Order: sequence, then C-alpha cells, then structure tokens
Amino acid sequence: MSDSGKSAKRSSFSGSIGYVMAAAGSAVGLGNIWRFPYLAAKYGGGAFLLVYIILVVTFGYTLMLSETALGRKARKSAVGTFKAYGGDNGASRLGGWINAIVPMIIAPYYCVIGGWVFKYLYAYIVGDVKEAAGDSYFGNFITSTSGSMFWFIVFAAFTMVVIFMGVESGIEKVSKFMMPVLVVLAFVIAIYSMTRPDAAEGVKYFLIPNFHHFSWMTVVAALGQMFYSLSLAMGILYTYGSYMKDDVNIEHAGNQVQIFDSLVAILAGLMIIPAVFAYSGGTAKNLSAGPSLMFITLPKVFADMGGSRIVGAAFFVLVLFAALTSSISLAETCTSTFQDELKISRNKAAWLTVVVIFVLGSLSSLGYSALSNVTIIGMQMLDFFDFASNSVLMPIAAFATCLLVVRKVGLDKFSDIVKETSPFRREKMYRVFVKYIAPVFLMVILLSSILSAFGIFSL
Ligand code: TRP
Repeated sequence: MSDSGKSAKRSSFSGSIGYVMAAAGSAVGLGNIWRFPYLAAKYGGGAFLLVYIILVVTFGYTLMLSETALGRKARKSAVGTFKAYGGDNGASRLGGWINAIVPMIIAPYYCVIGGWVFKYLYAYIVGDVKEAAGDSYFGNFITSTSGSMFWFIVFAAFTMVVIFMGVESGIEKVSKFMMPVLVVLAFVIAIYSMTRPDAAEGVKYFLIPNFHHFSWMTVVAALGQMFYSLSLAMGILYTYGSYMKDDVNIEHAGNQVQIFDSLVAILAGLMIIPAVFAYSGGTAKNLSAGPSLMFITLPKVFADMGGSRIVGAAFFVLVLFAALTSSISLAETCTSTFQDELKISRNKAAWLTVVVIFVLGSLSSLGYSALSNVTIIGMQMLDFFDFASNSVLMPIAAFATCLLVVRKVGLDKFSDIVKETSPFRREKMYRVFVKYIAPVFLMVILLSSILSAFGIFSL
C-alpha cells in the first residue's frame, strides 16, 4: 500500500466485490468476536445493541462515506488526502497524522490479544479441553510473564513475516475462503449456545433493549466500538478508497461492509452472552468481565459440547485467522506511513513497525504480570492503550475528517463527488451529521471520556 501519488501506478481493487471483501476483511476481526460481546454484556445488552446499530447507520455511514470518497478522489492515503484538500499546512498535517497514529497504538495490543487466541488454539490442539474451561485458566495464563510474552511474540512474528514478504494477494485469497467458514461455524456455535438451559435469559438480555440498563457510558462505548469495528478514523478507508475503481457505487459498497461487519458482531454476541447466563449465571459481575469474557465463557461451552476438542480448535483457528488478517493490515498501515512520511525503505519501515509493536505490546502484555502494579490513570496498560486510541484519538481524528469535508472540500463539492457513482440516498442526513451532529457529539464524547478517566466526572 504505497502512496506514490502517481495514479497510473497505483494498485486498485478488481471491482465492487474486491473493495467490499478487502474492507470487510479489515473490519471483521477481534473487534467483532472478542470486543463487541464484552462491551455489549457490560454496557446494557439490548440497549447497547440498539444504540450501536443506530450509530452504525448514521455516524458510521457518514464517516465511512467521507473517508472513502475523499481517498478515492485524491488517490492518496490519509496524510496525502488531508494535504490535497486542506493545503500543505500545520493543520492538515496534524489532521492526517492523528489518523495515522491510531493504528500504531492499536497494532501492538492487538498482537497481545492475538497471542491469547493462539494460546487457546494450542490448548485445544493438545487436548486441554477441561483445563481451558477452568475458572482460573485464563487468569493464570495472562499473569504468567513468560507465557503471555511468548504467545504475543508468536502472533506478532506471524504478522510481521507476512509484512516482510509483502504477500497481499495470498491473504486475500485465503480470507475469501475463511470468512464464510467463520460465519457458518459462528452460526452453529450460536445456536448451540442459545439452546442451553437458562440461555434464554441471555438472548433476551442481548436482543431486547431495557432502558434500565442504559447509561451515557452505553453511548460512549458503542461509539468507540463502532470506530474500532469498522476500522474508521485511522486512515484505513482513505487508503482503501484510493484503491477503489471509479465506477464502483460507493454508497452501496459501504452498506455491504456495514451489514457484514454487524452480522458477525451480533453472531458473536449470540455465541457468548447466552453462554454467560447458562454457565456462569448472568450476574452483573460476570457480565462485566471485560476483555476476558470470550476466553472464559466460550471454553465452558466447548467443554460441554460433543467433539469439543475439534470444535474448539476449529473455532480458535478461525478467530486467529480473522485476527491475523486485521493485524496484518494494521501493521501494513504503520509500515506504509513510516515509509512515505519518514522517506525510508520499506524494509526499514517494517523494522520500525517491529520495534513499535514489540515495545508497546510488551508493556500491554506485562501489564497483567510483571508490571501489574503499574497503572496509568487507574488503568492497566492494555486498557490504557485501548482507551487512548478509541476514546481519545479516534474522536479527534473523526472530528478532523468532518472539518475537512465541511470547511475545505465543501458540502456541495462533496455531494458531487459521491454522485459521480451513486444516487446519494441519505444526502440530507449526511449533511446534518457531518456539519452539526457529528462534530458536537464527538467533542462531548471526547470530553466526557477524558473527564471520567481522571475521575472528575463519573459516567
Ligand atoms: N476492525 C478490526 C476489528 O474489528 C480492528 C481494526 C481496527 C483494524 N483498526 C483497524 C484492522 C485497522 C485493520 C486496520 O477487529
């Protein structure tokens, strides 16, 4: 993904399907299977789901369209697109860079979680089905310094080998095969999990909004998750837009990505949340387990199923795959930004990515073990990186995109760009969102998450 600026040489996706598959491949990852269910469980179940879906079709739509359309028109990545429309000045550079820095914060801790997935896959392969379902298995694993560092490095090494080889077509081919298999397997596990005794309570909790469970934090968390899951506000869609052919209906392609991504997230919720009710009781404490939720409840479901070793191994292979495709594109984004902006060779840029992943990832990994008494504003390191990227930098990056569209490109010109290939059905809504609702909302979210992190304001 180099940003040479010469459109003649720029690579492109084969067509609408090519773009949708690539964007969905980047979107569907740990965010859908691991992050979405634990946030939904913690922040209100059905109320969270409803807020999330509303945000996807309004906010998510607005930002996705803005990034893709501008990237396609400018034929540049985020930093280049900001320069092309905003002029070569400090403000544009800042806007572009804030977008570019987010993946550098996410990629390292993404590899730590990827390492957890690897560890569980290994456990199923060697037949530790009962052990993996034990209550303290997960805790013992992440608090052991050598164990969690080892699997983090294995996952990061897989990611970086692909970056060094630069094989993009291989990954795309494999993900076209693996993604549908993941969906089928998720269906099977979700049905199994929903039909366990007492699971019905969980299905109700997840699907039926109950506004007693609603809080301002539901909105903050849902918004952060929407950015994360759709890979928004981090330069990805500028880059992918720049590879999109001129005749692809941009609105339609965006909708397909959103539907695919949300479907996988909802399936993951249906696998995990009913299982929490069936196996651990749907108590507030169990529901708010956070990042460990998938690793603690799913193994209990598997231990209970026939053929658990195979099902568990198959499941973690597929999660691993979804995680690897996403982490490769995160690392690729870091590498291409370093390459373009620091004017260094691709090889040097990739080594710099290795250093960033290793240093920040080690902090996240050790934050649960050797460095567990070190906290930043009351958070463990991994939580802190997640918070800094999703709750602080992404709202600012998204705000910069709104400013770029409204102030620099202009709404009428933007509409013309979109209408080159699609009817722009939600034009009115788009205008209201990009100009008023999104910027105000983003600032409110930013302020409230910062204030609450410092304990000044509790959500
Ligand atoms: N969207 C991915 C997921 O749901 C994670 C992710 C966030 C990502 N930002 C990204 C992937 C940028 C690739 C590129 O897991």
